[in-house]
Amino acid sequence: MSDSAAVYHATATAPVNIAVIKYWGKTSTKLNTPTNSSLSVTLSQDDLRTLTTASCSAQFQADALWLNGAPHDVSNVRSQACFAELRALRKAKEDRDPSLPPLSSYKLHLVSENNFPTAAGLASSAAGFAAFVRAIADLYDLEETPTELSRIARQGSGSACRSLFGGYVAWEKGSRDDGKDSIAVQVAPESHWPTMRAAILVISDAKKGVSSTAGMQSTVATSTLFPNRANVVVPARMEAMKKAIAEKDFETFADLTMADSNSFHAVCLDTVPPIFYMNDTSRSAVRIVEEMNRCAGENIAAYTFDAGPNAVIYYEEPAQDIVLGVLKKAMPAAIGWSDKYSKIEAKLPDGFNGT
Ligand code: DP6
Repeated sequence: MSDSAAVYHATATAPVNIAVIKYWGKTSTKLNTPTNSSLSVTLSQDDLRTLTTASCSAQFQADALWLNGAPHDVSNVRSQACFAELRALRKAKEDRDPSLPPLSSYKLHLVSENNFPTAAGLASSAAGFAAFVRAIADLYDLEETPTELSRIARQGSGSACRSLFGGYVAWEKGSRDDGKDSIAVQVAPESHWPTMRAAILVISDAKKGVSSTAGMQSTVATSTLFPNRANVVVPARMEAMKKAIAEKDFETFADLTMADSNSFHAVCLDTVPPIFYMNDTSRSAVRIVEEMNRCAGENIAAYTFDAGPNAVIYYEEPAQDIVLGVLKKAMPAAIGWSDKYSKIEAKLPDGFNGT
């Protein structure tokens, strides 16, 4: 029996993840399947997360989404794909148990909030679609595992499939034509490497110029470096990265992270017309970290940049004072810190040359 006045709701959060082996390129835009596997570290929920409440009711007239208080379009194919898949799972559950209220036939309302700047290269779509899928799955009381839900979140935004897990997460690209094996799996929980930290250097919170989706399409179509990256370089790096994580080998983790960030930005530069996500301040951050590692005689920090100018710096807790001390000195406008995964908002002073 259903109650026509009832409003059903569930709330979920999903954290941001930052890839250390980057996803860049699609084999199918329809299924949102990637040209290569990728691997990320999920950040602490305390720092960067999306909080989403999903509601449904027989009284709602249309599916709707509000993001940070503003209405957002849900007629796009990605949101529609997620709605359709989740409703189909709920419908199957209702068919198995006819006493359940028919939520699959009700319109959905989603209210979502980020605690960080949207579209500033901080993977807002990853946390956004992961929280979207998790909240509706909870509303529908679905029993599917995070890996099964990752197949759905992937269709919202590729990187979102990795935000359904904490810790170290691989998105295995899969080989099936229907994309059903293009899913995320946890490689190791956060507790496996308790000393790992990440600092976010917010260099600009402006909206990025070229969206990830448009940028990667353009790279796949035009970059001559890209096939080697996708088919040769990344598969080898995925294996090496999994081993480095299993062995908590920061030296190798850092080498691979920095090399893969640079390789990703190199294929962006090799795209016609070229795509520039990093700016002069980003390049200064690269030089500071490279110099810090050279002086230390080992890797004590690793930088990585997504589709925007902001840096994420990975380091281990014992090196925190030196890594953050140097960054803070080099970037004196740093204004924010947090204890677990540290966050720095920084701008280099005008004329600073990074050395
Ligand atoms: C550079 O997941 O935003 O952050 O699937 O088109 O929504 P769509 O792309 P998106 O791309 C993320 C690209 C990246 C690398 C990564 O997170 O692996």
